[in-house]
Amino acid sequence: MSYKNISLSRPGIYVPPRTHVDPQKDPNVITNQDLEKMVDTNDEWITRRTGIKERRIEHYLGVHEMGAKAAEAVLKVKGYDGKDIDEIIFCTNKHHLGQEFKHHAGYVGEVINVRDGIPMHDEAAGCPSALYGIRAARNNLIAEKDKNKILVVAAEKLTSFTNYKDRSMCVLFGDAAGAYILERSKNPGILEIVTHGKPDRKKVLGLKRGMGFQIKPSDDFSLGKFKFEEKEDNYIYMDGQEVMKFASEAMSEAVHEVVEKAGYALKDVEVIVPHQANLRIINSARKNLKKKGSKGEIIVNIEEYGNTSGASTILAHHEGLERKIIRPGMLVVKVTFGAGLNWAAMLFKQE
Ligand code: COA
Repeated sequence: MSYKNISLSRPGIYVPPRTHVDPQKDPNVITNQDLEKMVDTNDEWITRRTGIKERRIEHYLGVHEMGAKAAEAVLKVKGYDGKDIDEIIFCTNKHHLGQEFKHHAGYVGEVINVRDGIPMHDEAAGCPSALYGIRAARNNLIAEKDKNKILVVAAEKLTSFTNYKDRSMCVLFGDAAGAYILERSKNPGILEIVTHGKPDRKKVLGLKRGMGFQIKPSDDFSLGKFKFEEKEDNYIYMDGQEVMKFASEAMSEAVHEVVEKAGYALKDVEVIVPHQANLRIINSARKNLKKKGSKGEIIVNIEEYGNTSGASTILAHHEGLERKIIRPGMLVVKVTFGAGLNWAAMLFKQE
């Protein structure tokens, strides 16, 4: 069996659901207009500098529960049962719900009722965590002949690391989860994966402990959609300009590298699914790739979800399939970057 004969399923996803037709009245949706009421910002600035209009926020479920919902969704997509799964890899940066011990993968195993004896473990690698998890799953399927199906879950809740009085951070993040099943297949599926990292020596992206403001749904809507809770916690800090420089380069280089390594040319790629962190980063990567001969369509859904970290390319992949931009047999690249600093890309044939 070639290492390319591992298929990637269609994704299962979970996003905090809309609860109201009007996003301004929906506590699961943070609109730019909501942010205007929290900090000194405006819709025009956020849209021009990030491309984001809305993000979802999960008020009730933990990241392990969001991941379990995505796992159930992907089992349904494939028509499989928890008992069919031979390993679970849970990818996330969020480990502070008292869940470090046990790990989130064990929780998912409990919910989907897997067989006793299968390996279950977590993977944390910044926003590229899901691609790192997919790489581990593919490698394990190649190395261990008794494994046929591996579940990879990615879930993030960066809104709970966000200080809603910090205008440069609170406009960026949303919550979501996604999942895939990787399995042995007759036809080539995942063609190549590249993963890279370099130490964040200048400390451009991470968490810092301090006082900040978190948001909860309001008890009284007439007073506003959200209420603030001042709390000492870990909050995201970032040198946005530095991250943008790193990301724009890393994205186009990783796409180029993964395609070449698999023996294809950039012009062969039909769709590119990039990490949804900032529309300007996506547009800059688009420009660089076009110069190098890329003709692939780029999936963008940042306007509706913001940056959902490890779940971001899974939501975008799902949307590409729903919108029929991605169709069976197509050559697709996923590419992502984030804390670490890490970056990664995968070339695959859509199942
Ligand atoms: N509304 C209005 N003004 C804002 C603002 C907001 N929400 N946030 C910052 N500003 C202000 C700054 O205070 C600054 O004002 P000053 O010039 O008076 O000092 C000005 O806007 C420019 O700030 P800057 O940080 O240079 O803006 P930017 O163009 O770099 O955009 C980010 C900021 C965060 C949107 C952008 O840098 C970014 O998206 N970076 C990458 C994020 C990312 O990819 N993260 C990856 C995590 S995986």
